[in-house]
Amino acid sequence: MNMELKQRNGFVRPADSGGATNWDCGACQLRFGALPDAHGLVTCPDCGATNAKQGHQIAAATLPGMITGVRPTGALHLGNHFGALAPYLREVAKGQHRAMIFVADLHSLTTCTSSECSALDALSVEIVRLYLAAGVDPDQVLIYRQSDVEAIPYIAQLLAMVAPLGEVMRCAAFKDKSEQLSQDGRGPSVGLLSYPVLMAADILAMNAAVVPVGADQQQHIEITREIARKYNSHYANQHRFTEPQAQEFAPVRVPGLHGAGKMSKSGDGGDDAVIYLMDPPAEVRRKVMAALTDSSTEADQPMSTALANLFSLGKLCSPPEVHAEFLERFQRGERRFYGAMKARLAADINGLLAPIQERYHSGICSPDLVRNLLFENAARARAIARRTLHGMLADFGFRRLALGVP
Ligand code: TRP
Repeated sequence: MNMELKQRNGFVRPADSGGATNWDCGACQLRFGALPDAHGLVTCPDCGATNAKQGHQIAAATLPGMITGVRPTGALHLGNHFGALAPYLREVAKGQHRAMIFVADLHSLTTCTSSECSALDALSVEIVRLYLAAGVDPDQVLIYRQSDVEAIPYIAQLLAMVAPLGEVMRCAAFKDKSEQLSQDGRGPSVGLLSYPVLMAADILAMNAAVVPVGADQQQHIEITREIARKYNSHYANQHRFTEPQAQEFAPVRVPGLHGAGKMSKSGDGGDDAVIYLMDPPAEVRRKVMAALTDSSTEADQPMSTALANLFSLGKLCSPPEVHAEFLERFQRGERRFYGAMKARLAADINGLLAPIQERYHSGICSPDLVRNLLFENAARARAIARRTLHGMLADFGFRRLALGVP
C-alpha cells in the first residue's frame, strides 16, 4: 500500500502532538497509547519509528474508529444496498472516521454445517468483491477477514471472563438460531452462545467507537458496551476500552416484489421477490414484470400493498419526476399504466446496477486482487489487534507476553 493511501484512510494524520496520548504509526500501522517524552518524542513500541525522523511517521490519532462486520453470505440485494450500504458509504465519505469492514467468517461457523464451512473462504472473497463493486473504496476503508486476525478469538477468550452470562443467554438472536439449529437436528453450540462475545472482541480489538448496525444487532452492541464497562472497572490498567456506540441509520424500507414484507430471500416469493446486485438485466425485468400490482379497476379504491411496494421501489430507484408522474396518474384515477410503470422501474433498476456490475467484472474486483488486498490488510489489522491483546494480557497479569514475546 502506498503512503497516500494510508493517509487517506485515516490511519495517518498530520503530525499534531498537542496533548495527544494516542498515536498512529505510519510505518507499521500500529495505534498505541503513549506520553511524549521531555523532548516531545514518541516512539512506536512495535517498529521503533519516531515522530522525529522519517517525515513524521508517528502522528496523533484523531479519528475515531468505525467498524462493521459482514457475514459472507454470497449475495447482496437492493435491500442491503439501500438499507445498509448506501448510508454506510455516505458516512465514510464524510471522512470523520477510521473506517473498517471485516468479513465475519468466524461468526459464520456458529451456524454452518461442516460442508458449508469449506465454502466460506470463497464466499468471503465474493462478499468483498461485491462490497468493492458496490462502491466501498479500499483506500478509505480497511477491509479484512476476521479469521486472519488471530488476536481476535484470543481477545474474545479474555473478554469471556467479564461477559455477563445472563444477558448473553437472553439474546434474541441466540434463541432464534438455537431453535432453528434444534429443528435441523443439530442443536446449538457453546460457539453460538458466545457469538456476542466474539462480536465484542471484533469491535474492542480495533478500538472502534462507532458501530453502524441494523436494529437486530442492537442487543449485541449493548453487550459489547457492558463488557467494555466491566473490563474498564475490573481490569483496565494498561488498556482501557472506549465504549462503542451503535449507529443506526434512518431505516429505509425496501419492500420485496411479492407480499408485504421487506426484500429478503426468506420472505414471500423467495428469490423472485429479491433483486440481487448481480442479477442480469433480463432477470431484473422478468422479476419486476412478474410483480403483482392491483387487480381493482375502480378509481376510488385505495392502493393495494403490492402496488404501494412498487411505488416505494420507484421512489428509491427512479428519477423523482418519473415517480411523481406515475403517482399522479394513479391519483387521477388511471388504472392501466402498471405495465409501463414496471417496465420503467426495471429499466431504472438496471441503470442503477449497471455500474456496479461493470466494476464487479473489472480488474479492481478480481478474485486475485481481492485476495491480495485481504493479505495486505491482514497485517494492518493484526498490528492493531495485537496491541490491544498485549495491553489486555498485561492487565490480566501475563507480563512476559504483554512485552511482546512472541
Ligand atoms: N453479527 C453481525 C451480523 O450478523 C456481523 C458482525 C460480526 C458484526 N461482528 C460484528 C457487526 C462487529 C458489527 C460489528 O450482521
